[in-house]
Amino acid sequence: MSRFTHNHVRTGVAKNLAVRHTAQTEQHGERTLPEVLRLFDRNRMWSDRLKEINPDYFSNLAKQQKPEIFWIGCADSRVAANQIIDLPPGEVFVHRNIANVVVHSDLNCLSVLQYAVEVLGVRAVIVCGHYGCGGVAASMTDDDHGLIDNWLNHIRNVQRLHHDELEGLDHHQREHRLCELNVIEQVRNVTKTTIVRDAWRAGNGPEVHGWVYGLGDGLLRQLCVQKPDDAELNVLPSPTKEDCDVHP
Ligand code: CO
Repeated sequence: MSRFTHNHVRTGVAKNLAVRHTAQTEQHGERTLPEVLRLFDRNRMWSDRLKEINPDYFSNLAKQQKPEIFWIGCADSRVAANQIIDLPPGEVFVHRNIANVVVHSDLNCLSVLQYAVEVLGVRAVIVCGHYGCGGVAASMTDDDHGLIDNWLNHIRNVQRLHHDELEGLDHHQREHRLCELNVIEQVRNVTKTTIVRDAWRAGNGPEVHGWVYGLGDGLLRQLCVQKPDDAELNVLPSPTKEDCDVHP
């Protein structure tokens, strides 16, 4: 598309947006935050950008999803699954919660896992934590956080399980290591679900990986992996101290 045509389209888009914006304002009232209304504009421009590259992009994507990756990550806004592994819509199935915890009685997480494994047939499940995780940090204090303390108790269990290793570290190192250990234990939880065990027994289950992401450098590190034929989880050497120091 020529520059003129491109700009022409953009101008047209801008006019449409103005009309749409007014319509949204009228529909939702003046009380709606401008920041929220602007999301419709951003969505329209994003959709138009992709359709300029491939007019059939959305109609093709609407026909089916066939992701090979199931991502279990933290809800932290800085750890957006698709963006940090640079995959477009349709390529990764996602479940996120505070501190990427996998609890065997959490019907939400288990339902998404079941769909990923049994219906989508994903080839890999990735539990991805991150250094500087607020949920992990909160679990290390005795402060009263209200309801969420019930959730954070799962991380406190991880801390108790690895007490001997964590005890010898200073607070900064302990928090970093707990971010890693939390991922490893949540991977163990995934591998112990009836969903993954049944799939492995049937010979078609996914690999399960544990990763940790550095907020300070935008890079992923591998922590552990279990493949269907492995007798147990393979825990890799902890990332180096230099890696751990990459932290805001
Ligand atoms: Co987090």
